[in-house]
Amino acid sequence: MHIKQAIEERRAFKKFDKDFQMSEEMIQDLFSSVRLSPTAFNIQHWRFVLVSDPQLRQELRKVAWDQVQVTDSSLLIILCADVKAWEKEPHRYWRNSSSEYQDIILPAIDAYYRGKDQVQRDEAMRSCGMAAQTLMLTAKSMGLGSCPMVGFDFEAVGRLINLPHDHVIALMIAVGKTIAPANPRGGHLPLEEILVRDRFA
Ligand SMILES: Cc1cc2nc3c(=O)[nH]c(=O)nc-3n(C[C@H](O)[C@H](O)[C@H](O)COP(=O)(O)O)c2cc1C
Repeated sequence: MHIKQAIEERRAFKKFDKDFQMSEEMIQDLFSSVRLSPTAFNIQHWRFVLVSDPQLRQELRKVAWDQVQVTDSSLLIILCADVKAWEKEPHRYWRNSSSEYQDIILPAIDAYYRGKDQVQRDEAMRSCGMAAQTLMLTAKSMGLGSCPMVGFDFEAVGRLINLPHDHVIALMIAVGKTIAPANPRGGHLPLEEILVRDRFA
C-alpha cells in the first residue's frame, strides 16, 4: 500500500472483530516497522506493553471509559516510555558507530537530559507519538484498523500494568480487524489556519 493511501485510509476505528487473532508473525512484522521510528539521540525509550490477558483487558476497560475496543481488539498496546533510558547504558544506542563518534554523542545525550525532567517527559511523548503513527500506518498497510486512545485513567492503568516509577504512559492503541466503518470525519481545519509562513502574525 502506498504511504499516502495508508494515511488517507487510517481512521480511528472503534468496532473490532472479537474473534480475529493476529498471529505472532503479524505482531513481529508490525513491530519490526515500529522499532524503526525515530527518537532523539536514538535512545529508543518507548516500551510497548501488549495486553493479551482477557481478565486484564476487562480491568483496563473499566478504567478506560468502558471503551469496547479495549476488550475487543486483537492487540491492545499501551505505549509507555522509560524517561531514564538516556542514562541506562547509552552506548547501546550507538554501538555500531565509531568510538570517535561515541565520544561526541554520549556526552551530548547526557547534557541534553540530565537534571531536565520536563525535557525527559517531552521527549518521551514526542517519541511515542511518532511510534504511534508508524504503528497505525503499518497496521493499515497490513489490512488492519486501529484506534489511538487517551480516554482512560492513567494512574489506574499504570497500577494495573505495574508501570515502573521511571516510566510514563503516553497512550493506548487498539489494533485489529474492523467490523464497522469509522465515524464520519469530524471536520478538518483549513490549511490557511494551520500553516504558518515564517512567523506568527
Ligand atoms: C492521542 C489521541 C487520543 C485519542 N483518544 C481516543 C479515545 O480515547 N477514544 C476514541 O474513541 N478515540 C480517541 N481518539 C481518536 C480521535 O477522536 C480521532 O483520531 C479524531 O477524531 C480524528 O479522527 P480519525 O483518526 O478517524 O481521522 C484519540 C486520538 C488521539 C490522536
